[in-house]
Amino acid sequence: MTTPPAKRPLQSRFPRLWLAFQYLACGYFDRGRYIRKHSHGRRRVLEIGCSLGLDSRHFAHAPCDFLGVDIDPEAIAHAKKTHAGRAHMRFVCMDLHDLDVPEGERFDFILVSGVCHHVPTDKLVPLLEKAATLLAADGRLVVIDYAPSARPGWLERFFLDYDEGREIRSREALLAVLDAVTGLEIAEQEIFRNAAFVLPWPTMAYKFCIAMKKTDAEKGAP
Ligand SMILES: C[S@@+](CC[C@H](N)C(=O)[O-])C[C@H]1O[C@@H](n2cnc3c(N)ncnc32)[C@H](O)[C@@H]1O
Repeated sequence: MTTPPAKRPLQSRFPRLWLAFQYLACGYFDRGRYIRKHSHGRRRVLEIGCSLGLDSRHFAHAPCDFLGVDIDPEAIAHAKKTHAGRAHMRFVCMDLHDLDVPEGERFDFILVSGVCHHVPTDKLVPLLEKAATLLAADGRLVVIDYAPSARPGWLERFFLDYDEGREIRSREALLAVLDAVTGLEIAEQEIFRNAAFVLPWPTMAYKFCIAMKKTDAEKGAP
């Protein structure tokens, strides 16, 4: 079980500021390219840690059934308001560990964007293992998170130092955590530049887009 943080996160205290920063500097547009590429044509979508519903926007006009879950009640209230009127989008305040769906309703696409660097490894592995049980046999789970350079420049260092998430891992460490997840294996991985707004420059940070699929053993699991 994951408990909500004792201190209210910035996303709930200053949602507008948080969103503005996400658009301007935190790679919303860059992430969107990868999210759309991997989710294209996938009907049943789950976003884990959807927060205010920012990355959820990439599904606002997609032909899918979308469910966003987050343990932060204020963030979910904001997401519901933002996406009100979109009948194909639902947002629920809950711990992912409490989500259960019948086998025939498992998700074709699960997004875990910007979550890993907020969750310690002893909680992240079980979280992703739970996600594996919710993924359809031929589904894809996409992790988007920091992929820090070996020698970050000052701007990248600034972003890494000031992020609220205290679990930013090296590239090798994140891949090792994902390797330790029972039931999932890496299908594809790319590193992309997170630039400012829609401009190609400057580079604020480097991010991983890691697409995972079920292992053959997990596909056969009841
Ligand atoms: C930085 S936010 C992710 C940002 C978001 N994907 C976006 O579109 O901007 C990380 C979120 O993960 C959520 N979270 C962490 N553990 C969780 C769990 N076990 N179940 C559901 N949500 C969780 C946190 O509450 C937080 O809102």
